[in-house]
Amino acid sequence: MLTHCHNIEDLRIAARKRAHRMVFDYIDGAADDEAAMRNNGHQFSGYDLVHRVLTGVDQVDTSTTLLGRKIDIPFIISPSAGNRLFHTQGERAVARAASEFGTIYSLSTLSTVSIEEIGRLTSGPKWFQLYVWKDRGLVKEMLARARMSGFEALILTVDMPITGNRERDLHNRFTIPPKITPAQIWHALRAPRWTADYLMGPAIRYANLSADTPAISLAAFVAGQLHAGFNWRDAEWLLGEWNGPSVIKGVVDTDDAAKAVSTGFNAIAISNHGGRQLDASPAPIDMLPPIADKVGDAAELIVDGGIRRSTDILKSLALGARAVSFARPYLYGLAAGGQQGVTRALDLFTTSLRRDMVLLGVQSISELNRDFVRRRA
Ligand code: LAC
Repeated sequence: MLTHCHNIEDLRIAARKRAHRMVFDYIDGAADDEAAMRNNGHQFSGYDLVHRVLTGVDQVDTSTTLLGRKIDIPFIISPSAGNRLFHTQGERAVARAASEFGTIYSLSTLSTVSIEEIGRLTSGPKWFQLYVWKDRGLVKEMLARARMSGFEALILTVDMPITGNRERDLHNRFTIPPKITPAQIWHALRAPRWTADYLMGPAIRYANLSADTPAISLAAFVAGQLHAGFNWRDAEWLLGEWNGPSVIKGVVDTDDAAKAVSTGFNAIAISNHGGRQLDASPAPIDMLPPIADKVGDAAELIVDGGIRRSTDILKSLALGARAVSFARPYLYGLAAGGQQGVTRALDLFTTSLRRDMVLLGVQSISELNRDFVRRRA
């Protein structure tokens, strides 16, 4: 079935068929009217790629470097929570696939496989994403565990002081771990492959926390455990504690980008959390050129939000991103078919990127610049 998936939308449909409704909606959904999520993807169509002819390009090199690390493809894995809910292989599947493709795997604080296990699983490059706990002792402990397990960079996600209003999750009464309600049982019967997988696997829990948490909504969990008032001064404290390569994720404002640089972040992930937080936030691709102008070479830029085609990747790189990242595309693959599904998603991007580079007339990623992009009138 996966071989019949020829684009990310095909994988999305396959995920919807296999997964329990609350699981699919958690991946696929966003905040309020889901306008920011739609806009993230839509805004890519406001840019054209101007191809060059007779360049003689027939072989391409898709590799680049990010925070000093060579990667084989210019896209990396965005962190995402709770992967074992989507498929029993969970984060293991994604980390293995990332390593096979020679790219960076980012593990979420809220993962369902532990920091230590992911650290041991592959020799590929890994970053650790942090949400800031109210308990600073727990923050320090997580940083130490990530360092011990070989995670090379810290990603501080800053656009989720509290959780956005995800109405699909409210309608579905979605909790982690799931609560058994009559509606959940009904949807479980309609998703027999997901249900068999779920029932046979070990219980779903946040693997980086010592105690099991009760089945509550993500919003309630985040409100109870995370430090919503975390500010720039606290971020400086955190960077001092980490003392290594760092990424700030969730920036869309140019002044914030400048502050990120002066605070000491090495990379900025321009992102609105896939439209899952503030539903009126701008599309990251539109904020990339002004942020690139503002920070220059002082930080590397990563863009996420709405990337579904390799042309979206090329537009982002040409407009000044060092790399792009995404979560939904590989999560659709994971929910549709475990590691094979994740591999399919990464393979679709890689294969089409190679094709599009030949069609665009660029042999290597470093040749891309703004001359290749035209803003539509
Ligand atoms: C989310 C958080 C957990 O978007 O990253 O669901």
